Amino acid sequence: MDIFRLKKTASGEIKRAQDLKALNTLYKKYLGKKGEVTQVLRSLKNLPAKKRQLLGKKANEVKNSLTILFDKKARQLKQKAVKEMEEKEWIDVTAPGKKPIVGHLHPLTQVKRKTEEIFQQMGFSVVEGPEIETEWYNFDALNIPKEHPARDMWDTFYLKNGRLLRTHTSPVQIRYMEKNQPPLRIIVPGRIFRHEATDASHEINFYQVEGLMVDKNVSASNFKAIIEEFFKRFFGKPVQIRLRPSFFPFTEPSFEIDISCLVCGGKGCSTCSRTGWVEIMGAGMVHPAVFKAVGLNPKNWQGFAFGIGMDRLAMMKYKINDIRLFYNGDLRFLQQF
Ligand code: PHE
Repeated sequence: MDIFRLKKTASGEIKRAQDLKALNTLYKKYLGKKGEVTQVLRSLKNLPAKKRQLLGKKANEVKNSLTILFDKKARQLKQKAVKEMEEKEWIDVTAPGKKPIVGHLHPLTQVKRKTEEIFQQMGFSVVEGPEIETEWYNFDALNIPKEHPARDMWDTFYLKNGRLLRTHTSPVQIRYMEKNQPPLRIIVPGRIFRHEATDASHEINFYQVEGLMVDKNVSASNFKAIIEEFFKRFFGKPVQIRLRPSFFPFTEPSFEIDISCLVCGGKGCSTCSRTGWVEIMGAGMVHPAVFKAVGLNPKNWQGFAFGIGMDRLAMMKYKINDIRLFYNGDLRFLQQF
């Protein structure tokens, strides 16, 4: 084809190109390796010298002017593309924001924090201890000797290395008194483990809050006053409690504290085994053997200790009838708190 006609056709097609893709195809068609203009330039070598010079000059001019045209058109099409995108993808800064879904604290964590807050207001410090314990701290130092039948009260997960998963938070009583002199007031929130069958009120893993107060003159009535005050603040109203005589090797005397079931209002339901009462904690006056185990003279010191079941506390507060709901991760349950 005549080189000038080639230029005209090419120029027209470039001008009409709608987008960069189409322009790219045109570039290949004319200036690519096998492009029409390129082929003209290649064929020059076969021409006689004079013709070659003449056509060569023209062909190179055409090549240059087409290159300029391509560049210009490419710039225009790019600008157009950007503009179109801006129009399509504009952001309405006045639109109301989308709220990200934020989680919240697990009901047990809320109960733990509330409990800590109340006891701190009453002068107790919050202390923690390890979940993996030695038999000494979990049992022996708490006056539970090896073959003592009382050990059967706690169904224990033993580890291969001879240690165990603590069955209660009471070992922290020992750990704390080994390092700190009375007078003292502590609570110990923490996770504990028991190898037992699960049901609506029993889990193999649950939470306790241990309490310990030691001074020269601490009595069971101090304990009762403090725990009643705690329940009042925790539930936001006075709660009926009852103390029953009980047995723990590390307290003497020992009692079990029940609160009137808040799920059914004391009428009797599955949570309280139809009794109207829920056993919520064990407690008692610190046994002399425990003082001896930490090197304190029982003649000089008195104290009370208690262990509250935190899960049961949460069940009463929120009227939850199955302890297992705390641990199965069901959002339909968790989102209610
Ligand atoms: N550790 C006891 C339990 O797990 C509870 C308790 C704590 C009893 C402190 C008396 C004193 O059952």
